Amino acid sequence: MTKIMTDTWAKPIFDENGMTQWFWRVTHRENFSLGNHVEIGSFTIIDAMNSVNIEDNVKIGWNCTIMSNSTIDGKKGKIILKEGCSIGANSVIFPNVTVGENAIIGANSLVNCNIPKNEVWVGTPAKKIR
Ligand SMILES: CC(C)(COP(=O)(O)OP(=O)(O)OC[C@H]1O[C@@H](n2cnc3c(N)ncnc32)[C@H](O)[C@@H]1OP(=O)(O)O)[C@@H](O)C(=O)NCCC(=O)NCCS
Repeated sequence: MTKIMTDTWAKPIFDENGMTQWFWRVTHRENFSLGNHVEIGSFTIIDAMNSVNIEDNVKIGWNCTIMSNSTIDGKKGKIILKEGCSIGANSVIFPNVTVGENAIIGANSLVNCNIPKNEVWVGTPAKKIR
């Protein structure tokens, strides 16, 4: 029997303001890289001023903030979301953070430190639950 592979994933299309057709937005797009099969919910905003790198198969819920630069407290640094990790809805990722492979961040979390691979972290600030 022939297996028919269907792949409906499509790359985002950005307008002149960095807004995509799914209503998530990237600023400083020249410092942004996106893997394949990444899902990002509407109203997520990604500030890539100091580089944001999202690897393959990452899932990001609705209304997240991923900031590589914070003008309020002067924090800045590259953000890496490693392959297969998930970021729950309404979460904030602070500058200079790496979320490891297949790690899960719960909904409504604040991530201000590196998250090891395969772990589950939740809350503000995020703490390990598994
Ligand atoms: C983190 C998450 C994956 C854990 O799911 P789970 O493995 O089924 O865990 P449980 O529901 O059994 O929760 C385990 C404990 O963590 C707590 N917890 C779970 N999610 C939490 C969150 N986001 N923030 C704070 N605490 C949370 C639970 O209250 C529970 O605490 P307890 O042991 O004191 O009772 C899930 O709760 C979550 O946040 N998913 C993200 C959903 C989302 O945003 N999807 C995007 C849109 S599709």
